[in-house]
Amino acid sequence: MEFSWDLLRTLDEQYGDSFFYVDVDAFEDNFHHFLDAFRAIYPNTRIGYSYKTNYLPRLCQRVLALGGYAEVVSRMEYDLARRIGVPPARIIFNGPYKTADDLELALLEGATCNLDSAAEIDIVERIAARAPDRPLTVALRCNIDIGTDRVSRFGFDVEAPEFRQALDRLRRVSTCDLAGLHFHASTGHRSVESYSLRTKRMLELAVENFPDSPPRFLNLGGGYFSRMSPALRRQFAGPVPRYEDYAEAVASEVAATYPGGSGPELIVEPGSALTADVMTFVARIVTVKRVRSRSVALASGSIHTIKPTLHGKTMPMTVVGSPDEAVREEYDGIDVVGYTCMEHDVLFEGYSGRLGPGDYALFDNVGAYTIVMKPPFIRPAPCIITHDRGSDRFEVLRRREQIDDVFATYTF
Ligand SMILES: Cc1ncc(COP(=O)(O)O)c(C=O)c1O
Repeated sequence: MEFSWDLLRTLDEQYGDSFFYVDVDAFEDNFHHFLDAFRAIYPNTRIGYSYKTNYLPRLCQRVLALGGYAEVVSRMEYDLARRIGVPPARIIFNGPYKTADDLELALLEGATCNLDSAAEIDIVERIAARAPDRPLTVALRCNIDIGTDRVSRFGFDVEAPEFRQALDRLRRVSTCDLAGLHFHASTGHRSVESYSLRTKRMLELAVENFPDSPPRFLNLGGGYFSRMSPALRRQFAGPVPRYEDYAEAVASEVAATYPGGSGPELIVEPGSALTADVMTFVARIVTVKRVRSRSVALASGSIHTIKPTLHGKTMPMTVVGSPDEAVREEYDGIDVVGYTCMEHDVLFEGYSGRLGPGDYALFDNVGAYTIVMKPPFIRPAPCIITHDRGSDRFEVLRRREQIDDVFATYTF
């Protein structure tokens, strides 16, 4: 979407001095492109969209329409999927903390629950005893060593006896359908080699532990890079693989192990890969000042809006200049800072170019782990708008928060 200053000014007047713009059609393009890359090699692939990455209902609805699964990690996300109309059979319930009530509801409704600990198997056994005529679909989250610095806290250590014990316990529950194995890990490098390694290991486990017939599914989680601009790509030490590179690393291994369409459904759970590049954050430059050797431009946004995880990358920024050239100046290294009272609140460090009050700063690649993680710190959350391709009408997908939204749960 091309934003002229006039359009931004109109949107600012209508929706507030900062807002997110989401391109839902670009999200759909990413979904197709990602899935097609895998299906070209292993046709029996499905996407389980990671709600936690960006649970904007419009995106989750689009996933439903496109035939994807909802990958949820809490009762809140499970209930959201149900509210959106996702049939339970198309919900994958992951995550380390599912209460007994959560598991009971999800399992009895027919969702797939990927179990993270022996304590969750205790719960499943109790549910099965109470509801002996109801089928329960479960899988185990595997903890395999893929060479990360820190031992992952999730799932069952596949090298320990507890893993086999877990499989045996579930197989002893006659109503339990032990449908598959799950693995997910996020690494900083998100490398293709890491995906080959995890896929090979998971395939070995599938062959070893499902010797008679393949599991119904093999779920290899998310953690893939998104598409991104060269300015962002340059900030990563290693290569940024394409969807096709990941598909080659993962789907080829699965196809080689299970040739001729005999294999399990391959589930992949991309979050960032589908959402990161489909959102832009727009903030107005409110004022510019000089403090000793430092030039700073105050923006109507915050670092907590564009990267609540406070990761070290600089999100690409484009400036759309106001027509009032008299208030703009040429800078060689001005910091665009946010509205909070924190020194670390710098949205872009060292911008070089013309800038002035009334300009708009656009930050790209802010669709992953932003709106779901932004705290109500100092200012309520901004509006999220979208725009259909081929139309000039904007639509609000989340209205701007008000004081009542933030304080509704507090006692006065
Ligand atoms: C189980 C699981 N699947 C998928 C994802 C999505 O990860 P990403 O957004 O890096 O693709 C996560 C993120 O933490 C996860 O925990």
